[in-house]
Amino acid sequence: MTTTNCLLALAIAGLVLVSFPGLSRGDDACHGRELAGECKPSGTLQPKRSHSCEDCCKVGQSYPTYTCSPPTTGSTNAVMTLNDFDAGGDGGDPSECDGKFHKNTERVVALSTGWYAKGRRCNKNIRINAKGRSVLAKVVDECDSLHGCDREHAFQPPCRPNVVDASQAVWDALGITGEEVGEYNITWSDA
Ligand SMILES: *[C@@H]1O[C@H](CO)[C@@H](O)[C@H](O)[C@H]1NC(C)=O
Repeated sequence: MTTTNCLLALAIAGLVLVSFPGLSRGDDACHGRELAGECKPSGTLQPKRSHSCEDCCKVGQSYPTYTCSPPTTGSTNAVMTLNDFDAGGDGGDPSECDGKFHKNTERVVALSTGWYAKGRRCNKNIRINAKGRSVLAKVVDECDSLHGCDREHAFQPPCRPNVVDASQAVWDALGITGEEVGEYNITWSDA
């Protein structure tokens, strides 16, 4: 949305609010935050085979794919997930950025396809904030939002568009333990 359109939208929203004061404010677009539906699926994957692991793709299910991620800001909302970057782990192939596996004691992350930005963030640090703590972690891989349900992706569905897939060391550094480990809302920024 251009600034002009944005201001116009705000003006209209303002008028609507005057008329219907119960409606919530709709000025997020003017601050670069994610608008609902701004990053839409590019398609779906419909696997032909089921795989037995709990999180694996299943026949009859449809998995959305994304080329985009929500726009980044100085403090971008994301879902942090847990990844095994080591050889033989559920992360599948070696990391995209360097063709290597990584120990889970390293603070490393994979980013959804849009944020991975064709490798633009490779080997750079991002800052992850959660629970009042802040840690740096190195981008080493893509969390593929466009492909999945195949051996290369350990039969996992495509990544959601807003994921920071982090090693155990990142979770530890943030002090997130026990049942909270696995999926956690965080914010991140380029470091
Ligand atoms: C995490 O954020 C999403 C929106 O991005 C929200 O729907 C969900 O309720 C949040 N979960 C928790 C546990 O706060």
